[in-house]
Amino acid sequence: MENRRFDFRIWHWAHAFVVLGLMATVLLRKTFLSWRSNSELIMQKLAEINIEIGAEQAKVIAKAIRAPMWEWHILLGYALAALLIWRITLFFTQSGSRTYRDNKNKSMHKKAVMIGYIGIYSLLLFMATSGLVMNFHAALGLSKGITHDIKEVHEFIFFYGVLIFVPLHIAGAVAAELKGEPGLISNMIHGKAKL
Ligand code: HEM
Ligand code: HEM
Repeated sequence: MENRRFDFRIWHWAHAFVVLGLMATVLLRKTFLSWRSNSELIMQKLAEINIEIGAEQAKVIAKAIRAPMWEWHILLGYALAALLIWRITLFFTQSGSRTYRDNKNKSMHKKAVMIGYIGIYSLLLFMATSGLVMNFHAALGLSKGITHDIKEVHEFIFFYGVLIFVPLHIAGAVAAELKGEPGLISNMIHGKAKL
């Protein structure tokens, strides 16, 4: 193992925080702040005090409650786009290219890990591009229909890509730390590899 540079370590943890944050905003949107369940709750609670409102009005209120939370999806989204650009510049450093060098002498396992990382970078590049395109659809002159289709794919890649990779990666890093590669995680924290 070789020492990980300071900028690469900062990048990794900032990136981990941002991706986990983006996942958290989706989790909230689908559960506690879901407009479907909250609009029903609003109608039900208002009915208890003899106020009748329609489903459409309740939906508007439930979405307004969700809106400040969802702003974080967009803010973290910009952060992710910036972090991916930063990652590209890190490929020109020793720490940033370590996983992708010396492929001939790699075990099958290390090759699989490398392919996994290339996979997640591709997925995240797609998430960032599609997210930005959706966010600026009006300025780009995209129709509602196309924007909706992009959202469906953005959502699909979340469920069948990001949501699978992130827990796998964390479990994989912990397993490697405990078995074959002690010091792997602490190297990503303090940058000093065990020999
Ligand atoms: C919170 C627990 C996490 C731990 C303990 C952890 C640990 C690690 C470690 C030890 C490595 C280096 C592995 C190696 O050299 O092959 C690594 C690399 C990496 N991690 Fe994490 N990670 C965590 C969270 C995340 C999250 C949430 C993401 C978001 C997708 C992420 C994305 C990556 C990527 C893309 C690499 C490859 C870096 C490269 O290009 O070489 N990590 N992680
Ligand atoms: C790891 C990266 C990301 C993940 C996992 C993610 C996940 C998701 C998911 C699952 C949805 C669908 C929510 C729903 O309709 O229930 C969504 C919607 C959306 N995302 Fe992301 N996203 C990511 C990155 C981004 C980025 C970089 C941006 C751009 C700044 C962005 C902007 C949006 C927008 C504008 C929507 C549509 C929301 C709406 O219809 O009101 N996302 N995202």
